Amino acid sequence: MSLAVSSVALAGCRVNRGPVVFERTPKRIARGSYLAWGPPHCVRCHSELVQDRPGGHPIPGRELAGIRNQTGRVAPNLTPDPETGTGTWTDEQLVRAIREGVGHDGRQLTAFMPWNAFSALSDEDVKSIVVYLRSIPAVRNPLPKGVEQDIDEVTRDRVALTPPVPPVTSDYKNDAVRRGEYLARIGVCANCHTPIDAQNHRMVSYRFGGGRADAGVAPNLTSDASGLAHYDENLFIQTIRTGKVGGVRELKSGMPWWYVGHLTDDDLRALFAYLKSVPPVVHRVNTSDDETLCAICGRKHGFGSLNVTHPLTAAMH
Ligand code: HEC
Ligand code: HEC
Repeated sequence: MSLAVSSVALAGCRVNRGPVVFERTPKRIARGSYLAWGPPHCVRCHSELVQDRPGGHPIPGRELAGIRNQTGRVAPNLTPDPETGTGTWTDEQLVRAIREGVGHDGRQLTAFMPWNAFSALSDEDVKSIVVYLRSIPAVRNPLPKGVEQDIDEVTRDRVALTPPVPPVTSDYKNDAVRRGEYLARIGVCANCHTPIDAQNHRMVSYRFGGGRADAGVAPNLTSDASGLAHYDENLFIQTIRTGKVGGVRELKSGMPWWYVGHLTDDDLRALFAYLKSVPPVVHRVNTSDDETLCAICGRKHGFGSLNVTHPLTAAMH
């Protein structure tokens, strides 16, 4: 008898509290869309893409409906379809997946989902992304579970590229460098532009120093002569917006330039101001196929043999 009463009370309690639902506002939908199609490039990874079109455009009607690529890796369907998408997941489950790498079913997400970068998302921004995901059309797209990943790799990036984040806000209106730092962090730039050495360690003291990383070889983004010293704000904005360096050399698809290029001019300027402020790293890297062994990172990449190590820096990284 008393058992029946308490379970009724419990059920009532559940109904009253229910899952937390973030307020759906037009402002959040707009901000969430700006981010999902911007530097965090959710759309690029979670959609089937148009083949042979530079920049990684999603196939119309398949935006965020998930994809299984040739290697068996699955990025799940994020549309609100109740059976094959996120329709039955709570808003908080989505936040945990995005910021903490815990899937809706409690599993540790692999590092292919760059939640280490997204752990810096402010509360308001992550809520905006969730509210945006709730606002897009549901697309039915059943997908298998993804491939397993070596847990060491997950741990490596969690430790190396996920410094503790101070209380976050994305509202750095009057501080371009801080705003740029935030955009770079949630734009996953460091995962692709910080080298991984031959022992599979992330070279943290070469942050943004280019080399072989998550998407193959990526250039040095620091203001050193071996990096972006020759860039000014205009060249940066033009390169990101067009996917061509100086209007000439096409960037390979590893660089999600089309997504970063959705930023406003003001935000792109902030991103560039931040890159200028990063400690310069000496590491000559180019992305040509003429790859030679690099003494700094112990990997092969363009310009590799032009690099020399100083015993102290070699010991330090
Ligand atoms: C570099 C590619 C990439 C980017 C960028 C990316 N994702 Fe993912 N995401 C993945 C992959 C791959 C998985 C599956 C990971 C796994 O199964 O271990 C995943 C998993 C997820 C999950 C977990 C679903 C579950 O099972 O609980 C959510 C939610 C998610 N992503 C949302 C986002 C959002 C929102 C963004 C943008 C802020 C984003 N992702 C950006 C690749 C990406
Ligand atoms: C998924 C991996 C990836 C991410 C994320 C990424 N990049 Fe890149 N980036 C690359 C690769 C690979 C190249 C080299 C492309 C080429 O040369 O064809 C590149 C090239 C560039 C270049 C061109 C430099 C030059 O002159 O050759 C710039 C600038 C750049 N990235 C800035 C950024 C910024 C800023 C961010 C974060 C907002 C970012 N990237 C995020 C992989 C990435």
